[in-house]
Amino acid sequence: MEIPHDPAASHYEHAGKGLRRRDLDPDPIKQFGNWFTAAIEAGIRDVSAMSLATAGRDARPSVRIVLLKGFDQDGFVFFTNYESEKGKQLEANPCAALAFYWIELDRDQSIPPPPHWGGYRVKPDAMEFWQGRPNRLHDRFRYTRQRDGSWLIERLAP
Ligand SMILES: Cc1cc2nc3c(=O)[nH]c(=O)nc-3n(C[C@H](O)[C@H](O)[C@H](O)COP(=O)(O)O)c2cc1C
Repeated sequence: MEIPHDPAASHYEHAGKGLRRRDLDPDPIKQFGNWFTAAIEAGIRDVSAMSLATAGRDARPSVRIVLLKGFDQDGFVFFTNYESEKGKQLEANPCAALAFYWIELDRDQSIPPPPHWGGYRVKPDAMEFWQGRPNRLHDRFRYTRQRDGSWLIERLAP
């Protein structure tokens, strides 16, 4: 099936006010926190749902949705079954990528867990913030962790 351009929302146009460098916190974790709080305040459903990409020794990536359970300067935490596909892949190759999509901004149950259920912390060495804008002039900024622990901020687009 060939997918037409923007099939579900052909009238949708990014209404975002844009993202300027001066809007950015120098610390990407704080910047993420600002956006996360804004997403909660905007009433977005499943605000903590994120895509988690992993790859095992065969380097073939796989991706699924998990829930963010916490974040701080040490990274982003989610919980899962250590014996799941992602658990096995992270055991073999402890690298992962996360992605959130909060379209409205253009931007759980208490069963005791089994012993093979536990947490992972994703420690970022790069973070990107994407703000949709009209006419595809989307603003993209990337933070890259430097050797001294500081963050380099680069505009990727436009
Ligand atoms: C909204 C949503 C939230 C989810 N949250 C989690 C989660 O926090 N942990 C988890 O292990 N699976 C979660 N899942 C299920 C995973 O997407 C996935 O199907 C499952 O963990 C098996 O993945 P794997 O076989 O690639 O390891 C969630 C699914 C959805 C749709």
